[in-house]
Amino acid sequence: MYAANFPIARFRRLRRTPALRDLVRENSVTLNDLILPIFVEEGIDSPVPVASMPGVERIPERHIGEYVKAVSADGVKAIMLFGVSHSKDATGSDSWREDGLLSRMIRRAKDAAPEMLVMADTCFCEYTDHGHCGVLNDNVVDNDATLSNLTRQAVSSARAGADVIAPSAMMDGQVAAIRKGLDDAGYSHIPIMAYSSKFASAFYGPFRAASGCELRGDRKSYQIDPLNARQALLESIADESEGADFLMVKPGLPYLDVLAKVRERSLLPIVAYQVSGEYAMIKFAAQAGALDEKLAVRETLGAFKRAGADLILTYFARDIAREGTQ
Ligand code: PBG
Repeated sequence: MYAANFPIARFRRLRRTPALRDLVRENSVTLNDLILPIFVEEGIDSPVPVASMPGVERIPERHIGEYVKAVSADGVKAIMLFGVSHSKDATGSDSWREDGLLSRMIRRAKDAAPEMLVMADTCFCEYTDHGHCGVLNDNVVDNDATLSNLTRQAVSSARAGADVIAPSAMMDGQVAAIRKGLDDAGYSHIPIMAYSSKFASAFYGPFRAASGCELRGDRKSYQIDPLNARQALLESIADESEGADFLMVKPGLPYLDVLAKVRERSLLPIVAYQVSGEYAMIKFAAQAGALDEKLAVRETLGAFKRAGADLILTYFARDIAREGTQ
């Protein structure tokens, strides 16, 4: 490798003007790369602000059509739907009912804005009365019993019109089970976005309030220990071999090392999830005058791109569509 030394080399030459800086910029974030997560609550009449996520609201189910249309008009191209359920039970059965909240909101979103890519978070924590991501057996989440329920939920989401199935339960074998279920039901054309490197993270705190999930205990027996990177790579490789069409790293900013390593090992599109706690940190710090929100958003999303992400799930997606990233 050749690199000149000072005074022949002067790095500031390429930083001198905005046009030069634009010319040599290595990464960029566009609306093609962003997915907006949305919380949809059944049985309410007006939006409910999420106190721990300033600017984010639970959207009443009956407003979802107009909401998705408005978001689409702003320029957002993809959304991920999360249900806030009033019909919880031990298995989360509402999530695979044809007239359950998950199916209804997918149908309404697609009907209102057919051009919008609608992604379905495929999990149970929003629909179970104990808040875990699957079926409990002696207080432990039963992996294999949960697999068949995940498959039912995925097929019912596809039937309702979901464009992408995104399993986030962290059950072993979930991608293979869902792929087979979708194929058998005639949905071989529907891609799977696997939450493959999903850590048991403190940064999901605001999400649990936003989604009305009252978890008893924790998710350490199924989500990855935050101190482990090799396990995350193993899970990603396994998900790819099970047929995942996308791999995800979640949360984003605390796991850039994992993102970069997954990038080195996979040719699939990789998604970074800037989770609720990351959003809250930027919002509250900006509200306190500690940092500039727009610059912090640009810098963090740029970091995901730099580390190797193709796509980003972020609660800032609509703001960016309205105001741009520069
Ligand atoms: C599980 C799910 C969670 C998030 C997305 N999907 C919560 C969890 O695993 O506890 C968190 C997203 C965020 O914090 O923004 N269905």
